Amino acid sequence: MHSSNTDHVTLVEVGPRDGLQNEREIVSSPVKIELVKRLAAAGLRHIETTAFVSPKWVPQMADSTAVMSACASAPELAAVTLSALTPNLMGFETAMAAGAREVAVFASASETFSRRNINCSIEESLGRFDPVFEAAKERGVAVRAYVSCVIACPYEGPVDPRAVAQVSRRLYQKGAREISLGDTIGVGIPAKVKHMLEAVSAELPVSALAGHFHDTYGMGIANIQAALDFGLRTFDSAVCGLGGCPYAAGAAGNVATEDVVYLLQDLGLRRDINLRSLAETAAWIARKLGRSEVARVTKALTGHGSD
Ligand code: HMG
Ligand code: MG
Repeated sequence: MHSSNTDHVTLVEVGPRDGLQNEREIVSSPVKIELVKRLAAAGLRHIETTAFVSPKWVPQMADSTAVMSACASAPELAAVTLSALTPNLMGFETAMAAGAREVAVFASASETFSRRNINCSIEESLGRFDPVFEAAKERGVAVRAYVSCVIACPYEGPVDPRAVAQVSRRLYQKGAREISLGDTIGVGIPAKVKHMLEAVSAELPVSALAGHFHDTYGMGIANIQAALDFGLRTFDSAVCGLGGCPYAAGAAGNVATEDVVYLLQDLGLRRDINLRSLAETAAWIARKLGRSEVARVTKALTGHGSD
């Protein structure tokens, strides 16, 4: 077991990006901007705000410049790390022009998912990221890197942890500050997560790893606990459990931020987030999206979603 002395967990709120990218009805830019502001007001300090991807591929993120610019110029968001997905140099440049404070490239441990999601092989994707790493270094901008399909691929089935380790190591060597390990379709269980982390941590430090768990089968919190026990101290989550990937059919939302915060508060690992305000934000965005389903913690604290 890898233990860590740190008593703080970093949360990366991905609701405005991963959470909304798969919504069928286009969510208006003012709602997206208000969501970011509400999340920051609840105490979240790292918010993945949008994605600078092709609007043909992900129409929901077509307003990325408007959303990022408004957030970057909002005084109440001055202390928030506003990050964005950037699949290539074009995305990076547009993100910088809009005021993004951190960027994230995204690769996959599965060849088929790479092709379906970003239209190129894993190897080609790593090549496309090189200019992003270079340009980011020149500007002093941190780059995060995602690896998708760390447990299984929606097209290929189970993924070999060694493939996850290999692509993670290469991204880290290229200069990624952190590797976020994505259980894209949320099929992981704690034992498999631990097995995968053993392979990845043989190649790079546990302190450089983050967990990104989708909650399709309700294993998100259990997987976070397994990763915490392993020594990980950064997790991605989405308010209200929103999310899914347009190129991973059947993938449900991310683990809900309010569920994660409930766990971390009681563990003494995160006491600075206002859980009630977060739950109210979850209930608010659920109403905006016309959803009746909310995370357990939101239901418990606000009554939203109960009959
Ligand atoms: P492509 O078609 O191979 O790209 O797409 P291309 O370079 O041939 O360009 C084609 C067109 O796209 C051109 O426009 C470019 O200008 C435009 P046209 O001449 O046809 O009008 N284009 C762009 N437009 C805006 N921003 C850009 C950009 N780049 C090219 N950055 C590409 C390749 C990567 C662009 C495309 O496949 C794409 O945008 N994919 C995005 C897919 C995506 O966003 N998926 C969801 C996020 S990943 C995820 O959810 C997983 C994660 O949460 C972790 C996990 O859960 O596992 C991170
Ligand atoms: Mg995701």
